Amino acid sequence: MSHFRPVKLEHASRLINHGPTVLVTSAHGARRNVMAAAWSMPVEFTPPRIAVVIDKRTYTRELAAASGTFGIVVPGAAMIDLTYAVGSTSGREIDKFEAFGIDIVEGPVLGLPLIETNCAAWLECRLIDEKHTEDAYDTCFAEVVAAAADSRVFVDGHWIIDESNQPLHTIHHLGAGKFVRASSMEQAKPLAR
Ligand SMILES: Cc1cc2nc3c(=O)[nH]c(=O)nc-3n(C[C@H](O)[C@H](O)[C@H](O)COP(=O)(O)O)c2cc1C
Repeated sequence: MSHFRPVKLEHASRLINHGPTVLVTSAHGARRNVMAAAWSMPVEFTPPRIAVVIDKRTYTRELAAASGTFGIVVPGAAMIDLTYAVGSTSGREIDKFEAFGIDIVEGPVLGLPLIETNCAAWLECRLIDEKHTEDAYDTCFAEVVAAAADSRVFVDGHWIIDESNQPLHTIHHLGAGKFVRASSMEQAKPLAR
């Protein structure tokens, strides 16, 4: 049974606000793919817009450019090995979904391949035509058209990170296959002045 529930578009930025390493999914015709990306961020609340660096040499970039769409999946800590694996291989050589046994769910708006098992959230995105930033900086801007999150870790527009949902804690790449997990939350308190 899926624990994923729709996330209001005005809350979509919160899914990647804290800089998790994400998976970028893509498809064009019968071709489909998934890669890892450490460099993504929200850039606008409403309409929800994001930016992600997708190197022009990747198969992902080819499919995203061809379809005008891509998916962002926020993997949980249970996906560390898999995240590194899809970030170290190219879809030009293998179908990573098949090779690594990744279950796909179909995005409701764009029909993109998305992942829910061991993942905290996903966003379906429509590419915004920004040729200059794509060519010069490999930075792709996109509008989020649908989003959902696992209700065990994201409820009513807010993350809940605690001991009960460790496999869904987001992961953050330090480099060379080392990750840290977002494992505890702390509420900022007003300082006395
Ligand atoms: C943890 C991790 C983070 C990565 N972050 C990015 C990124 O932000 N942008 C990027 O273009 N490539 C990034 N990469 C590299 C791509 O995932 C890698 O080039 C991948 O093989 C491309 O796959 P594809 O050719 O199937 O699209 C990252 C790799 C890893 C392992």
